[in-house]
Amino acid sequence: MDKHNSSGPALRRSLLFTPGLRTDRYAKALSGAADMVCIDLEDGVAPDFKIEARDKAIPALFDAALGGGAARAMRINPIKTQIGMRDLLALCDFGSAPPALLLPKIESPEEVRWVAEILDEAGYAPTRLMVIIETGRALEAALDIAAASSRIDTMLFGAADLSAEFGSTLDWEALHYARSRAVHAASSAGLDLIDVPSLDIKDEEGLKREARLAQRMGFTGKAAIHPIQVPPINEIFSPDAETIAFARRVIEAYEESHAGVALLDGKVVEMPVVRAMRRALAIADKIAAGTQ
Ligand code: GLV
Ligand code: MG
Repeated sequence: MDKHNSSGPALRRSLLFTPGLRTDRYAKALSGAADMVCIDLEDGVAPDFKIEARDKAIPALFDAALGGGAARAMRINPIKTQIGMRDLLALCDFGSAPPALLLPKIESPEEVRWVAEILDEAGYAPTRLMVIIETGRALEAALDIAAASSRIDTMLFGAADLSAEFGSTLDWEALHYARSRAVHAASSAGLDLIDVPSLDIKDEEGLKREARLAQRMGFTGKAAIHPIQVPPINEIFSPDAETIAFARRVIEAYEESHAGVALLDGKVVEMPVVRAMRRALAIADKIAAGTQ
């Protein structure tokens, strides 16, 4: 079901949201280029349709006949609400471990630990967790949330809810501090960090600009709300041939030097540069493993 886990480590450049109620869209989403597809029971579903969406989406999450190679995830409703708690319990009653759950509106590490304990109790050891940082409290507690459970492998930056709470615009500058804080928290716990989807589906240039800015800040991927957004996201979050070639040269020069420092093209290469280059190569290796 998950090409990335079956043939190599997980690749998380793109996460495509698909609305829970629209089961007719799942197969297309899963067979596209997205590294992850997240069936959404939260803001992608109107309040009156939450139960219908849950009833349809949970069996579909496990339906191998839908095919596709993307890793599957489900965004449940906030765990502090009745509807969110019922989403989680319905998944427990279903009897199969969901591959990954995306937890919105998380505000403390305790909330993540409750979810992890409920999953433990259900015997769902394989289920991974992703957390969305999208409230002021979450931003404050982001370091602790990131480290709350070994099940967490990914953090999302929820700019839409955060800007609504701040009373700010969604402009890049308005949320720069918040994004920096998310980078700090996610990297401290070794998590992948996915940026908010761009809401203007027709604005490809805007999407690319935002994706590049996020990539430069340390984000490892970006979410999408339409399949058309996925290819540019994947491209921007993949090291290009030039970067890969340079990374190999850096590492070679460093390893040959035996002195903890090397000179390449007139520039000093020390351990931090090597670490950054190893990181780029690790992503390139994951991409190669996923496409073999
Ligand atoms: C995502 O959930 C957001 O609020 O941006
Ligand atoms: Mg949100």
